[in-house]
Amino acid sequence: MPQRKPTIPRFAVYAIVISIPLALLPFALIARVRSIHTSQPRLHFFQDMDAQPKLKAQATSARYADGRAMRPTVSGAVARGRLNIDDHFQRGKVFRDGKWTWATTYPDRVPITMQTLERGRERFDIYCATCHGESGNGLGLVHRRAEKLQSSGWIQPSSLHVIDPKTGKLTYGTQLYPHGKMFQIITHGVRTMPGYEAQIPPDDRWAIVAYIRALQLSQNAPIDAVPPDKRPALR
Ligand code: HEC
Repeated sequence: MPQRKPTIPRFAVYAIVISIPLALLPFALIARVRSIHTSQPRLHFFQDMDAQPKLKAQATSARYADGRAMRPTVSGAVARGRLNIDDHFQRGKVFRDGKWTWATTYPDRVPITMQTLERGRERFDIYCATCHGESGNGLGLVHRRAEKLQSSGWIQPSSLHVIDPKTGKLTYGTQLYPHGKMFQIITHGVRTMPGYEAQIPPDDRWAIVAYIRALQLSQNAPIDAVPPDKRPALR
């Protein structure tokens, strides 16, 4: 008697043949929705508080007489902490002898303490050293990289220690750049350098000014600025 081969029932064969593509279908659908763009919102089963009625900026609204959804600021309102009436602190300028001049002193609310200088150093190292170098010599990493790439149009960040040959004074020292002007350069930038008003709050800008003075002294200090007992150690 010939041995009977075990056969798979026909319906099972059909079932397997059909179920393989069916099993792949979800993957194909997922791949499809991941690759096409649609302006329809995605399925969002649990609403929670995600969609709420609101007025959007620049939109119109019948609620207000002028038809605008955005409300103008109430005239005369001042944001907390933004009453900018201290010109010395906010603009680096003082009114002296009938005219506005750059402040040559620090504002009263910026105490020149070790803590302020440390803060200034930290902020300088974050915001300025990338271009001006940690010692302020104008050879920061961004500059060195730009040189390497030979980017055209790159302007070297100023050295903060250049001495004017005519006057023998620091180009960016207290004489030519009073504290207030230095403050304004950080605030609004200068020529190709961007301003840092948005990133650095005023008291930190003053702390940076104070730290730059310390940096300048560190590179061009007169011998009598060094305590007598430390002098022999120099050179
Ligand atoms: C993105 C690079 C960059 C950063 C960051 C930067 N500077 Fe400058 N800075 C420059 C360049 C470039 C110049 C020279 C601009 C020119 O001559 O067009 C300059 C010039 C200056 C000058 C000289 C102004 C003058 O009249 O010549 C001072 C002072 C100065 N920067 C201070 C700062 C301080 C303080 C910071 C940090 C808050 C800072 N810079 C951050 C690029 C930078």
